[in-house]
Amino acid sequence: MLEGISEKQIKVHLALYEGYVKHTNLIGEKIRALKEADAEGNAYLIAELRRRFAFEFDGMRMHEYYFEQFEGEKGGSRESALAKAAEEKYGSGENFIAHIKEVAGSRGIGWVVVYADPRAGTLHTIFVADHELGQLAGLPIILALDLWEHAFMVDYVPAEKKGYIDAFLANLNWSVVEKRFEDTI
Ligand SMILES: [Fe+2]
Repeated sequence: MLEGISEKQIKVHLALYEGYVKHTNLIGEKIRALKEADAEGNAYLIAELRRRFAFEFDGMRMHEYYFEQFEGEKGGSRESALAKAAEEKYGSGENFIAHIKEVAGSRGIGWVVVYADPRAGTLHTIFVADHELGQLAGLPIILALDLWEHAFMVDYVPAEKKGYIDAFLANLNWSVVEKRFEDTI
């Protein structure tokens, strides 16, 4: 049971996630069928479907990151490697959360994504449009906050988006995020 995010909201959202799983598979099947039928004649169609693949795949995978963060006993430690990295980059854990909220206030639909950057030894908190536009190449995702309207509109109207962001953070199991970060170092 989550605080501030209803069961109906999660149910509606999970059904949407299932659509991405279905379409990730479907797009591959369509490409194969078009190729077998007439690879040359269908070249444009195939190329356009390939361009769409990241939308479906990332839509699937981003939701897996998202829902996983609500699972398990809520944890989190100020002594964790993540807490130390956040302090180094943002000054404090509180500033890190304030920064996530600030990025979440960006106009438009998409995601707030926190990445670990093992090569530079830091974190990046950015806004990703749709699911796939502006993802950082090769960086592991440690936190994913869904800011498509479907993620909150069962419970909140668009003007109440801040309420949803607060509810997301209240339900977020930081242990999951810490573990993802630790796996990168
Ligand atoms: Fe979503």
